[in-house]
Amino acid sequence: MRRYWKYVKPYLSAFIIGPILIIVEVIGEVLMPLLLRNVIDYGVSGGRGISYIIAMGITMVITALCMMAGGVGGAYFAIKASTGFANDLRKDLFNQIQKFSFTNIDQYNTGSLITRLTNDITQVQNMIQMMLRIALRAPGMLIGALIMAFVLNPKLALVILCVIPLLSVAIYFIMKVAFPRFTIMQKKLDALNTTTQENLTNIRVVKSFVREQYEEDKFKKANTELKDSTINAMNVVIFTMPLMLIAMNITTLAVVWFGGNQIVAGSMTPGVLTAFINYIFQILISLMIVSFIILSSSRTLASAKRINEILCTDIDLTDEKALHKDIAVQYGKIEFRGVYFKYYKNNEKWVLENINLVINPGETVGIIGSTGSGKSSLVQLIPRLYDVDRGEVLVDDVNVKDYALKNLRNGVGIVLQKNVLFSGTIKENLKWGNQDANDDEIYQWAESAQAHGFISSFPDGYETELGQGGVNVSGGQKQRLCIARALLKRPKILIFDDSTSAVDTATEAKIRESFKKELKGTTKIIIAQRISSVSDADRIIVLDDGKIVGMGNHAELLQSCEAYSEIYYSQVDKKVAAS
Ligand SMILES: Nc1ncnc2c1ncn2[C@@H]1O[C@H](COP(=O)(O)OP(=O)(O)O)[C@@H](O)[C@H]1O
Ligand SMILES: [Mg+2]
Repeated sequence: MRRYWKYVKPYLSAFIIGPILIIVEVIGEVLMPLLLRNVIDYGVSGGRGISYIIAMGITMVITALCMMAGGVGGAYFAIKASTGFANDLRKDLFNQIQKFSFTNIDQYNTGSLITRLTNDITQVQNMIQMMLRIALRAPGMLIGALIMAFVLNPKLALVILCVIPLLSVAIYFIMKVAFPRFTIMQKKLDALNTTTQENLTNIRVVKSFVREQYEEDKFKKANTELKDSTINAMNVVIFTMPLMLIAMNITTLAVVWFGGNQIVAGSMTPGVLTAFINYIFQILISLMIVSFIILSSSRTLASAKRINEILCTDIDLTDEKALHKDIAVQYGKIEFRGVYFKYYKNNEKWVLENINLVINPGETVGIIGSTGSGKSSLVQLIPRLYDVDRGEVLVDDVNVKDYALKNLRNGVGIVLQKNVLFSGTIKENLKWGNQDANDDEIYQWAESAQAHGFISSFPDGYETELGQGGVNVSGGQKQRLCIARALLKRPKILIFDDSTSAVDTATEAKIRESFKKELKGTTKIIIAQRISSVSDADRIIVLDDGKIVGMGNHAELLQSCEAYSEIYYSQVDKKVAAS
């Protein structure tokens, strides 16, 4: 609860003025039947004459105008308060997700995050708006009308008092059944969003595998489940309305019955009975609204819980405890000391096991190993995309945990295996590496990545608009753009995770050549599938099943490392066979 105060505070005036205006409306509403009684009993039957009726009429019109002003003003401030609240909350939620570590991101799927950012927050926003408008109004009306009923005729009011507890019990049971169903409903909405999001981002793969039918079925299933769970929840809710109507009718009947008798006996006037029936409606309607609020709040509670989950997620990778927040990466030395790592802490098997390794400033190191051997995992530990479980990773002899994340990641450029470009021009994308880069620098580093040529051949050159994810360039072109983007950052350590897999060997050789010339002082780690991509590296590391099984240059490894020579000959054989 305290967490939400922050979002109320900036809109506090709206949060207070709104309900106050609503109270004006409530007072008018409660007074109206009384004025009506006056017209009937004193004006019509009491013989006070037309002038009294007109005076009462004018009073009623003024009251109605005040009610209208209160109602409109109340609604205005309720909207202002609730949208402001939601806006700030959404912003914080988004920022929190930006702070997520890779491990945190692995925990949630994108669809669920989107649902939480949109639908769940809207749910809370609507609830607040409703609360501000009717949460005071309904109980206010209920209490006001009850008091008036007792003032007018205490005996008759007892009828109402009998109905309220009965209704309350019924509403309680409806809610108890409804709450878990709302939680399920929201989960199903998550599932639908996840399916949709996954499909939409990967529609090309779906089409190339002719999986449309499968995807349609998957969507249909998620959609049907959402429908069913919604109906399941709503089935309970729809009982509320008829229950209320029955209660309302029975009570009215009882009041007319007892009240009619009293009128016949002369102990009550027709005006009082009219006012009384009005109050009964007010009481029961406000009861209905209260139950509706409680019911919807059970749904909102489910949403609020999901929002809270994100806000309370422990960011498991921060630089709060870093000892040297102000230092930057200067030389580019890397050291792994007895490093163990796994993604799921419950798994027994390590993804990386007892890694010991020193990479000197300016060195070029290749990493080779079968898929799943842990190459990507190994290099992701250097810019601290994940944290080690045991041992330590040092950059320039300082534990990576002791750098400010910003400084560390600025010093370590990584071209991830699954890299993406963003919608925008090529130049904008390249400038991600360095916002202040001028055109000459951009051209120079694009040239190093062997990207300048093909970029210049586009009609719009560097101003070419890239589609979402960079769909309008080829795989190899995309990889070269990603390399150029990382180069522009001019980090001390550069890591290429399989970044030239889609680039032809001749172009790749040119890229390697320019790296050798232009990145002399930069430590380079190159993960590759092809031995030819790393054979001229100062050192090659061979990974197998999370362990280092070989280290040395190409010639040494061919002699000493079985895993390496196996990979080498399998690739050479292929070449021979192909030619
Ligand atoms: N984000 C992740 N969550 C859980 N397991 C992962 C994740 N990424 C990789 N793995 C697992 O870790 C192991 C090593 O993967 P990875 O380092 O990507 O291998 P490589 O890059 O050598 O192909 C594999 O068994 C893989 O399934
Ligand atoms: Mg990999």
